Amino acid sequence: ENDGLALTPPMGWNSWNKFGCNVDETIIKEMAEAMVNSGMRDAGYEFIVIDDCWQIGRDSLGNIIPDSERFPSGMKALGDYIHSLGLKFGIYSCAGSKTCQGRPGSRGYQFQDARTYAEWGVDYLKYDWCYNEGQNAEAAYKTMSDALKATGRPIVFSICEWGDNEPWKWGKGIGHLWRTTADIRDCFQCQFDWGGLGVMDIIDRQAELYPYAGPGHWNDPDMLEVGNGGMTYTEYKTHFSMWAMLAAPLMAGNDLRNMDRQTREILTNLDVISINQDELGQQARRFMDMGDYEIWAKPLTKGEVAVCFLNRSSEVWKLAYNWKQHTMYFVKDVNLHKYQYKIWDCWKHEYIGTTNEKLSADIPPHGVLLVRLKK
Ligand code: GLA
Repeated sequence: ENDGLALTPPMGWNSWNKFGCNVDETIIKEMAEAMVNSGMRDAGYEFIVIDDCWQIGRDSLGNIIPDSERFPSGMKALGDYIHSLGLKFGIYSCAGSKTCQGRPGSRGYQFQDARTYAEWGVDYLKYDWCYNEGQNAEAAYKTMSDALKATGRPIVFSICEWGDNEPWKWGKGIGHLWRTTADIRDCFQCQFDWGGLGVMDIIDRQAELYPYAGPGHWNDPDMLEVGNGGMTYTEYKTHFSMWAMLAAPLMAGNDLRNMDRQTREILTNLDVISINQDELGQQARRFMDMGDYEIWAKPLTKGEVAVCFLNRSSEVWKLAYNWKQHTMYFVKDVNLHKYQYKIWDCWKHEYIGTTNEKLSADIPPHGVLLVRLKK
């Protein structure tokens, strides 16, 4: 059942959050180059994923046709270029008759499309749920999963069903990750009549899903908005920290070509990325919920643990935390009564005390204190 793919949460970049339908081969190539030049590839990012709108029709044999004005070199050449940079190539389709933007979907063409993707060198497929025409979700995703496996090419399969059919209950073995909610919006706390969720609402919906995440099968709270301009520096650090804690796929969704220093620092923070990529593959649990103040913990390998103090309020949280106060009962290898741990601040990149002392900190509004307890 475990095919060895996505043993840690997938990392990469996807065109949708920034470019929507306005995507072409130049953008994709430049993004791949920027992933290398910005240090993101070295930080662990690997997939370059073209989302919706690359496809324009089918030929008389039913083969999917890419938009030749936007992708004049063709998908095989684009995939080769991405691979030549040491990166992997991702693409998008839909289990319905059409994609969400009305382009041809894969319904009825699953095996043919999967073969085409494999010929192009595709390594990752994001598979959406628009125009699904009442299909059974599990069966629809299983069909494409079987089609991908039949190609013999290892392809990470990203289920984009938005959570209505509880893919966490059936997605393991079918796909490697599954969306859990409607689309992310570039805001901290916000509501949209027409769907879409801010970062805090998405986090709330992950809290109970921790049993379903593990190596090769991840809850996907949607792609990152870091660097897209709708949130503050503090809020983007919170967004990135919590996605790391949640063992979420880290798919950047901004323009990598012209990142400011802060955006690049967030996306390449290895102290945070190593929490996300920890081999245990456990999703953080919220073990203290004091309204606007929350504490989450994520068990890590080597008997370590990541702890995130999340301040959802618009006031400073004057933290004075006694580590003996709560038991992180689910963090089996960490015993705060028996051992003293050093506390590493994952944004300051320095030790800020030990667990035998009270931890004092001013956590800014909408901010986090993200630490790793080390032996
Ligand atoms: C849906 C998905 C998004 C994106 C768009 C493309 O809304 O959830 O992530 O892929 O479709 O049309």
